[in-house]
Amino acid sequence: MTLVLVQDRAGLAAARADLAGKTRGPLVLVPTMGALHAGHRALLRRARDRAGHDGAVIVSIFVNPLQFGPGGDLGRYPRTLDADVAVCRDEGVAVVFAPGVPDIYPDVPAVTVDPGPAGDEFEGEFRPGFFRGVLTVVMKLFGLVRPCVAVFGEKDAQQLALVRRMVADLNLGVEIAAVPTVRDPDGLAISSRNRFLSAAERATALSLSRALKAARDEAASGLAEAVKAARQVLADAAADPALQVDYVALADPATFAPLGDDHMGEAVLVVAARVGSTRLIDNVKLVSGWGFRGVSPPHQQGPAVQARP
Ligand code: PAJ
Repeated sequence: MTLVLVQDRAGLAAARADLAGKTRGPLVLVPTMGALHAGHRALLRRARDRAGHDGAVIVSIFVNPLQFGPGGDLGRYPRTLDADVAVCRDEGVAVVFAPGVPDIYPDVPAVTVDPGPAGDEFEGEFRPGFFRGVLTVVMKLFGLVRPCVAVFGEKDAQQLALVRRMVADLNLGVEIAAVPTVRDPDGLAISSRNRFLSAAERATALSLSRALKAARDEAASGLAEAVKAARQVLADAAADPALQVDYVALADPATFAPLGDDHMGEAVLVVAARVGSTRLIDNVKLVSGWGFRGVSPPHQQGPAVQARP
């Protein structure tokens, strides 16, 4: 299938009608803000697999102003459309939808999606209005593309949880597929913002994934020990004034409600920090007493769940 690039709603409607005539399988959407990297590629591959021979993948590329705060990095967010289209072509994407702001927001929206209480926690606390912006644009993309399936990354675990909740609470009927976080060989979670890190900042940024690994290694002794280990790594790294930790905390994997360090059972350990002027987030799934489950093969996950009190 040759890739089609559409940059407005009319183009999307035409491309969608064309696909409907040519395909019988699921239409799978991958929402992105572009500057595509290996993490996005993993989503595109999952989307291609899910679409199967009879379906098709649509990728949206839209830097959504509604999710950037007044002091945010909207202005410097990387925009690399030609390279992004090449990545999509490489990964078998049928349609790239890269609209301009007036196509998505012809007017300032009066009606937006309220993310609920979990929208004020963690990222929501440090980026007020962020999840309202994310959920509103995802809702709009669902309305425009009308996909059967949409693919999101576990890298943004709170976003993934809130999208799932929106789909459930508002009966959107879109299947949500999740892809594990893709990391560079040194452990750093891949992000479009990593390109802003100097070599020294990048070395400092590694303390986030090191903290998560320390937590994972301690999880067999309980979540409190795991969180303590993560905090210790970040406290040591904070000798570098370039590192400003925003939070290291446990969240409920499904609701993203904050959990106490003494929680028993499953949790997501979430971390956010600024390194120089670049803000980074990362997370790992933990089960108290059973260690890291983020990328464990299913045969290692089974007993942990069964043995839970
Ligand atoms: P963006 O940051 O471009 O991310 C698009 C998708 O790629 C998200 O689902 C994100 O979780 C996933 N992703 C990014 N880095 C990843 C990595 N290293 N491993 C696995 N997945 C990764 O997230 C957004 O855009 C926006 O908020 C959006 C949902 C498009 C709404 O504007």
